[in-house]
Amino acid sequence: MNNKLIALALLAGAALSQTAAAADVANGRALVEKYNCASCHGKDYNSPIDPGYPRLAGQHADYLKHALTAYRRGDSAMNGRNNAIMSAQAKPLTDRDINDIAAYLHSLPGSLVLRK
Ligand code: HEC
Repeated sequence: MNNKLIALALLAGAALSQTAAAADVANGRALVEKYNCASCHGKDYNSPIDPGYPRLAGQHADYLKHALTAYRRGDSAMNGRNNAIMSAQAKPLTDRDINDIAAYLHSLPGSLVLRK
């Protein structure tokens, strides 16, 4: 391969990985509707049905991604979270699903984090 081709291949690779990383908020919304996450976390994701259930609206997307990935891992793995309810919820989710769900929940107005 000559240098121009290599540069082109690198550019294409960078473009592809950017597409993969960009979250799709509308898809995140469709997914939480499909899985009916609101049945526990509240219709606005800020008024859960039980005080022990966490508010999700406005939470940092990184935190939500980390939490969902940890539930999916379960507690038999390093950095897993052990919760029977949420592990079952997270099991069917792909990395892409988690990325999109986190972006959607983060976009909602909530009282958890300060916005600058
Ligand atoms: C049957 C009730 C129920 C449903 C349905 C449910 N959750 Fe949960 N969720 C919980 C409970 C209870 C916890 C707290 C678990 C714990 O103590 O670790 C939780 C925790 C979480 C957390 C961690 C929040 C934090 O602050 O650490 C996230 C993120 C989350 N849920 C997202 C979702 C998503 C996304 C869906 C839909 C795919 C969903 N939940 C569906 C009950 C539910």
